[in-house]
Amino acid sequence: MRVRERLVAGNWKMNGTLASARALIEGLRRELMPLTGVKVAVCPAFVHLRDVAALLSDMPVTRRICLGAQNLSPHPPGAHTGEVEGGMLKELGCRYVIVGHSERRREEGETDEIVAAKFARAHEVGLTPILCVGETLAERESGATEQVVARQLDAVLSGGAKVFAEAVIAYEPVWAIGTGRVAEPAQAQAVHAFLRRRLAGHDAGAAARARILYGGSVKAANAAALFAEADIDGALVGGASLDAAEFAAICHAAERQR
Ligand code: PGA
Repeated sequence: MRVRERLVAGNWKMNGTLASARALIEGLRRELMPLTGVKVAVCPAFVHLRDVAALLSDMPVTRRICLGAQNLSPHPPGAHTGEVEGGMLKELGCRYVIVGHSERRREEGETDEIVAAKFARAHEVGLTPILCVGETLAERESGATEQVVARQLDAVLSGGAKVFAEAVIAYEPVWAIGTGRVAEPAQAQAVHAFLRRRLAGHDAGAAARARILYGGSVKAANAAALFAEADIDGALVGGASLDAAEFAAICHAAERQR
């Protein structure tokens, strides 16, 4: 039995209609077998959270799927037009929230400081942040992978290592996201082990407990090989999480690799 329970989280990104979100949850109800030792979460767009929460509350207990959001405001409630506050997500039944996804870093200009503030805010309201880190292709090719992920992680750690007690990190090489080009399991494992060592430098206990997910073109066909690596504790799944059979197969692969 592993020390760390695996987590497979689906990042639906800006996809779907209410009808397709419903169909996806219905599909998961059919496809997911009872799971032990694996947590499953789905992260729909903000506007679908309430409906998805209601559908998930009807799932059989052994197939319970947790709810997550894709983003939150770094601020407490107040005058921030168009933003969504962490407490609101908590009230809707969210347990997780993704912070620092590379699409937000790139398209919305989220800096390490903003990501750190979002991470801290998630903790304040009792959400478990899923912190995304990862290098671009140019950074990998210039040998800067460790330097980049260390910088992204350290920005959050400087807020206090205690914050990491329950956190989830997702290593998502930018060149692997949505490209069909998955990292080699050994390549991913090397970065995961590096991240855990870095975390251990701040808090050894937290490092042993922290779940480090891999993300970037995870599919049913490559999941088992990734999960066989010692420091890969699950997956953050984008495209493949929009297909119930595919996503369920990834969850089952996580269970078999227990
Ligand atoms: P992908 O996305 O699985 O479609 O590559 C992963 C992610 O962005 O979290």
